[in-house]
Amino acid sequence: MPLIALCAGDGIGPEVTAEAVKVLKVVDAKYKIGFEFVEAPAGGGAYDKFGTPLPPESLEKAKKADAVFLGAVGGPKWEGLDYSVRPERGLLGLRSGLDLFANIRPAKMFAPLVGASTLKREYVEGIDIIVIRELTGDIYFGKPRGVEKYEGGKRGVNTMVYTTPEIERIARVAFEIARKRSKKVCSVDKANVLECTELWREVVTQTHEDYQDVQLSHMYVDNAAMQLVRNPKQFDVMLTPNLFGDILSDEASMLTGSIGMLPSASLNGKKGMYEPIHGSAPDIAGKGIANPIASILSMGMMLELTFGNSKAAREIENAVGRVLEKGFRTADIYSEGTAKVTTTQMGELIIKELA
Ligand code: IPM
Ligand code: MG
Repeated sequence: MPLIALCAGDGIGPEVTAEAVKVLKVVDAKYKIGFEFVEAPAGGGAYDKFGTPLPPESLEKAKKADAVFLGAVGGPKWEGLDYSVRPERGLLGLRSGLDLFANIRPAKMFAPLVGASTLKREYVEGIDIIVIRELTGDIYFGKPRGVEKYEGGKRGVNTMVYTTPEIERIARVAFEIARKRSKKVCSVDKANVLECTELWREVVTQTHEDYQDVQLSHMYVDNAAMQLVRNPKQFDVMLTPNLFGDILSDEASMLTGSIGMLPSASLNGKKGMYEPIHGSAPDIAGKGIANPIASILSMGMMLELTFGNSKAAREIENAVGRVLEKGFRTADIYSEGTAKVTTTQMGELIIKELA
C-alpha cells in the first residue's frame, strides 16, 4: 500500500491539509489505490510538543513513506527561538534529510483569475512558468555559517556553496522537464559577481550538451527579477540555485494572482515532498478563510510525480478550474461579483466537481 507521511504543521497548515486529504481520499476511492497515512509532526507545533522542530521519528516516517505532504510551518510565536530549533529548520531538515534536491514550482494562471493579478491582463494572461529550484545546497546549507563576536561587535556569515554534481543533477531535471514543454530553459545566476554561480553557469552549459534539442539561455538574477514583471511570458522553465529560486518563485507566483494558488513538489526521483508554496499565514489561521487550492493541487502533483497517475492530477486541476469558472473564491482571490467561500466550502466544491 502506498504510504503518505502527513505533516500539517502550523498556522493555516492544518486547515488546508485537511481539505487536500479529503480530495485525495476521493481520488483514492475512485482509483482504488488504498493510500495509507501516517502523521509526521514537524515545525513549531512539533517544537512545542517534542522540543525539536523535526523529531527523529518524523524524519524516519518521512523516509519510509512514498511521499510526504506538508502544510506549512512557522509563525511569530517561534520567531525568538534560536535558529537551530526554529520551525523552518524542520522543513529544511526534511528537505536535506530526504535529499530532495529538486524543487518544482509551477506558476500557472487559471484563466478566471486573470483579474486577481496586480499586473495588467495582457502581460499575465496565460502565464505558465515552472521554476526549478535547487533545494539542498547553496547558502541555505553552506558552511561556515553563524554569528560570532567580532571586534567589539559581531560578524554574521553564510556561505554559498555548490559542487559540480549538485549543479548537474538539478540541471538535468530542468532539461528533462523542458523537453516535455516548450523546450526552453533559462538558467539564473550572478556569474558576473559570484564565482560559485560562475561554476553554476559552466556546469549547466556542459550538461546542456546532452540536451541539444532544448534551448538554453542564461540570465543574471537581478535582470530575471526585472524581466519577470516586465515581460513574464518570455519564460517557460527557469532553473535556479536555492536562494535565487526562493525569491523568484515568490515573485512568479504573484503573476498568477495569488500565492494561495500554487503547489510545489520537492523531489529526488519519484520520492517527493509536496507542499503549497504559501506559508503558515498566522494572521488568518483558525479563521477558516485560507485558500486550500494550493494544497489540493499539491496532492495532484503527488499523484502525478510520485504515483504516476497524471489522469487523476488533470482531473483535480480541471475540477479546480471549473469551481473558479463558476465564480467561487476564497478571500485571497475574491473580487466583486464572485461568491466568497470558506476553506471547507472550497474543498467541498472541488470534491463535488471531481465526483
Ligand atoms: C519556501 C520557504 C522556505 C524557504 C522557508 C519557510 C524555510 O520560504 O519554501 O520557499 O526559504 O525555502
Ligand atoms: Mg520561499
